Amino acid sequence: MAMLLIIPLLVHSILFTISSAVFSPQPGICYGQLGNNLPPPWKSVELIKSLKAKRVKIYDATPEILHALKNTTIQVSIMVPNEIIFNVSTNKTFSDQWVRKNVVPFYPHTLIRYLLVGNEVISSTKNDTWQHLVPAMRNIKRSLRSFRINKVKVGTPSAMDVLESSFPPSNGAFRKDIAAPIMKPMLKFLDRTKSFFFLDVYPFFAWASDPTNIKLEYALLESKNITVTDSGTGLVYSNLFDQMVDAVYFAMKRVGYPNIRIFIAETGWPNKGDIDQIGANIFNAAAYNRNFVKKVMTKPPVGTPARPGWVLPSFIFALYNENQKPGPGTERHFGLLFPNGSMVYDIDLSWKTPESEFRALPAPENNAPYKGKIWCVAVRGANETAVASALSYACSQGNNTCYPIRAGKRCFKPDSLYWHASYAFSSYWAQFRKTGGTCYFDGLATQTTKDPSTLRILQVPKCNTMKESTQENEDIITTPFNDSFIDDYYSCCCNISNLLFHHFDIRLIAFISLIFCSSSRQQYVPTTPPGRNSK
Ligand SMILES: *[C@@H]1O[C@H](CO)[C@@H](O)[C@H](O)[C@H]1NC(C)=O
Ligand SMILES: *[C@@H]1O[C@H](CO)[C@@H](O)[C@H](O)[C@H]1NC(C)=O
Ligand SMILES: *[C@@H]1O[C@H](CO)[C@@H](O)[C@H](O)[C@H]1NC(C)=O
Ligand SMILES: *[C@@H]1O[C@H](CO)[C@@H](O)[C@H](O)[C@H]1NC(C)=O
Ligand SMILES: *[C@@H]1O[C@H](CO)[C@@H](O)[C@H](O)[C@H]1NC(C)=O
Ligand SMILES: *[C@@H]1O[C@H](CO)[C@@H](O)[C@H](O)[C@H]1NC(C)=O
Ligand SMILES: *[C@@H]1O[C@H](CO)[C@@H](O)[C@H](O)[C@H]1NC(C)=O
Ligand SMILES: *[C@@H]1O[C@H](CO)[C@@H](O)[C@H](O)[C@H]1NC(C)=O
Ligand SMILES: *[C@@H]1O[C@H](CO)[C@@H](O)[C@H](O)[C@H]1NC(C)=O
Ligand SMILES: *[C@@H]1O[C@H](CO)[C@@H](O)[C@H](O)[C@H]1NC(C)=O
Repeated sequence: MAMLLIIPLLVHSILFTISSAVFSPQPGICYGQLGNNLPPPWKSVELIKSLKAKRVKIYDATPEILHALKNTTIQVSIMVPNEIIFNVSTNKTFSDQWVRKNVVPFYPHTLIRYLLVGNEVISSTKNDTWQHLVPAMRNIKRSLRSFRINKVKVGTPSAMDVLESSFPPSNGAFRKDIAAPIMKPMLKFLDRTKSFFFLDVYPFFAWASDPTNIKLEYALLESKNITVTDSGTGLVYSNLFDQMVDAVYFAMKRVGYPNIRIFIAETGWPNKGDIDQIGANIFNAAAYNRNFVKKVMTKPPVGTPARPGWVLPSFIFALYNENQKPGPGTERHFGLLFPNGSMVYDIDLSWKTPESEFRALPAPENNAPYKGKIWCVAVRGANETAVASALSYACSQGNNTCYPIRAGKRCFKPDSLYWHASYAFSSYWAQFRKTGGTCYFDGLATQTTKDPSTLRILQVPKCNTMKESTQENEDIITTPFNDSFIDDYYSCCCNISNLLFHHFDIRLIAFISLIFCSSSRQQYVPTTPPGRNSK
């Protein structure tokens, strides 16, 4: 294996001069738009400038954004959506039209430099699309040429799951199902057109899946003393990021393309996540992204152990926390900025601000896994129609997911949409979380550490004033629950459907709970009432 190293090292030193002369190492930023509360494009462009981002990547070709980027010095990456890859690959006219509509009107005043065909196509589309990926890339390149647009590199971002092995890095290999039919022709195209292998690299996910064996500092790019030696090459790694990037380098080399440059199409660390997600906090996000900027901005370039000295052009994910991204909570919290435009933590992508000038960070509180129980409940105040359809979806999945909430069964009462949905979401999640199921349901569900089937909150309104008691503290009585109280209360005035959707104060809904479902209701010990502001 040591022999194999010599050749690429020679090639590196030649390419190094070329690549560092042409490509700035200053990171760009991914401008995702999956939020209903994000600033408009012109404002976003101002914010991108204030972060000192060198480039911006968008996930489509929104004309308002491309227009707002006109006459700036920000290099731009646009994207052909996954949905039209088939058409682009099979229909040259279609490809030409896409370029005519999305590139030509903005080029060259908007510095469009990269055109990505699809996003993580191998990971996120059905396998019948995969075969169209490289032909679509070829067609787009041809279309660009036909409009005499030559400065735009065509590529496609891959996630780490294009690899079937990545450890040690020298074992890096593309998956067998895609290596020959897709990756090889893609690399051939990238090589021929002097484009990049665009790679999404998230040490966060690799670490979070095995936080016992991988040290957090190693994932955060800040370990001083942890090293991993690749037994195949003897190369010594001091962070997880390098390990992941080099695995891809070795995979490319294995199929005969050792010289294609890698472009980090996404990397980042979430500033917040669900209760069951480890290490997603502002402290770690700031550490990772600042260390990343420092790493790539160091002069002369450090590269990675297998490619020392290579410039690593990059985009950090992401500009904003995006509240409409599906999946676990981390997906909605990768932003450097809150939707209101203020910084989640200080960062300067040009690496000109000394770290001592950054404001202090909140201490991390979730760097170890949450040990307690977690339930998945419906979000109070959510759209009833949508909750009803999510309820019916959840019930259609898994084994007997909703049996206990059927009429007459143990958990039918309280007979309300809110509690039925909460039961169904918890039941669904309990069955599917191991295989990637999330407690989200388009924002209709949320995790809680409060057992919905216990009644820890002891303040409830008086029955006869319930409907009116939205005012602060009005007619609130503090009562230790007991069975007879619950039953009485339920029968006397629990018109739950009214209550649940019109009073969102937790005190008001505390009494109607899945206590009816619990087999251990005798064990409830009244606890002290939480304060007014407790969650
Ligand atoms: C950009 O600059 C060009 C050439 O100077 C000018 O014609 C155009 O109006 C400018 N566009 C914007 C949006 O400022
Ligand atoms: C893509 O091609 C398919 C099959 O020819 C067609 O049904 C579909 O409408 C096309 N999509 C677009 C966006 O034109
Ligand atoms: C190819 O795309 C063009 C432009 O969208 C469309 O008019 C044409 O019908 C498409 N051809 C085929 C065979 O789908
Ligand atoms: C696509 O996936 C299906 C099942 O998931 C499999 O049967 C089929 O062979 C795959 N096709 C290709 C081209 O890989
Ligand atoms: C590395 O250093 C940290 C703190 O200085 C220490 O806690 C840790 O045990 C060291 N790890 C190794 C592998 O030496
Ligand atoms: C912006 O939003 C964040 C998070 O919601 C909040 O903490 C911050 O105070 C807001 N900043 C401004 C200026 O409104
Ligand atoms: C509630 O959800 C339904 C279906 O998801 C949607 O059609 C409707 O517009 C939503 N209503 C409101 C007020 O958002
Ligand atoms: C449902 O039950 C079947 C048979 O016991 C089992 O194979 C399957 O994994 C179960 N599904 C879930 C989601 O638990
Ligand atoms: C149960 O609670 C009700 C209402 O607070 C109270 O009147 C009753 O005495 C309690 N019963 C027992 C057995 O504690
Ligand atoms: C609950 O309230 C709704 C609407 O006000 C009413 O139609 C329904 O009859 C009530 N149910 C009970 C059990 O009182």
